[in-house]
Amino acid sequence: MVASQNHILRGCGYILDAENAAETARLMLRDRLVNEVMGGVLPEGVEGRRLESILDLACGPGGWVLETAQCYPWARVTGIDISETLIQYARAQAQVQGLRNACFEVMDLLEPFPLPGDSFDLVNARDLTGLLTPATWPRVVHEALRVCRPGGILRLTEFERPISNGAAFTQLQELTRRAFQRTGRSFAPPSHHLGILPRLASLLRDAGCYQIQQRAYVLDFSAGSEAHEALCRGYEVELLLIRPFLLEAGVTTPAEFDDLYRRALVEMFDEDFAGLCYILSAWGKKVCPDPGLNGREAPVSWSA
Ligand SMILES: C[S@@+](CC[C@H](N)C(=O)[O-])C[C@H]1O[C@@H](n2cnc3c(N)ncnc32)[C@H](O)[C@@H]1O
Repeated sequence: MVASQNHILRGCGYILDAENAAETARLMLRDRLVNEVMGGVLPEGVEGRRLESILDLACGPGGWVLETAQCYPWARVTGIDISETLIQYARAQAQVQGLRNACFEVMDLLEPFPLPGDSFDLVNARDLTGLLTPATWPRVVHEALRVCRPGGILRLTEFERPISNGAAFTQLQELTRRAFQRTGRSFAPPSHHLGILPRLASLLRDAGCYQIQQRAYVLDFSAGSEAHEALCRGYEVELLLIRPFLLEAGVTTPAEFDDLYRRALVEMFDEDFAGLCYILSAWGKKVCPDPGLNGREAPVSWSA
């Protein structure tokens, strides 16, 4: 799917070419690092043995779904994504890994989900910032909660733009933030971040979740860290893929971008490079129609 630039500028398309093979490789590698830093695939305190049906929104090449299906073989884990190529890739991965409890479907999150209500114990969504806007987030969260079972869990995990001691790398992140703002993708007020992290809990609350919890994580990708090589290679790909979005948004020129990109690569692989990526996960429960069950014997419980 090569994103239509007009679409991008109206704030209603995905900002990267999701079907670029390098993006698939980047997402699979990042998936492993993120699951590791978050201590596994499930929200803290959620008991996997109680989960029978799990849904992952905008699953990409399926990293989270595949690992969840492997860890919890009794659960049926479904991933949905708009990209047919990525869904085919994810299905092939499930097949070669022998994961018969993982399945994948092509679906557009911006349309009502063609899925029955009250049907999943856990609905997971990670890194939707590049495709949703302040206008579309509430609708998607509402739809995600509709397909969640009463007492089930809806979980959102998002990333802020990384921070680092690299001047060019930092400037590229600032250009990205500015492009998000210019195309109506950042939450107000305008600031030095995308504004999504402080909104996760209120998006869940406004959709009707209760017992909302949050955990913050930091992925250190400084030189010498375990994640350094993999995450820097990931940013090398991501920054190149984000170039058309920045140019179309009018926040940079080809010459400025290319110069910053060349310098950022040198910075990232310098022995003094320090970089941090902040991640926030927020999750809450769907209200049970029987008020007596709220917070007690719901289908899914955690030991908070
Ligand atoms: C940054 S990737 C995140 C993938 C995965 N959740 C992860 O954390 O690794 C965003 C994904 O959103 C998908 N996407 C973009 N627009 C979409 C839409 N309207 N409906 C469903 N998926 C969409 C893209 O194909 C891409 O796979």
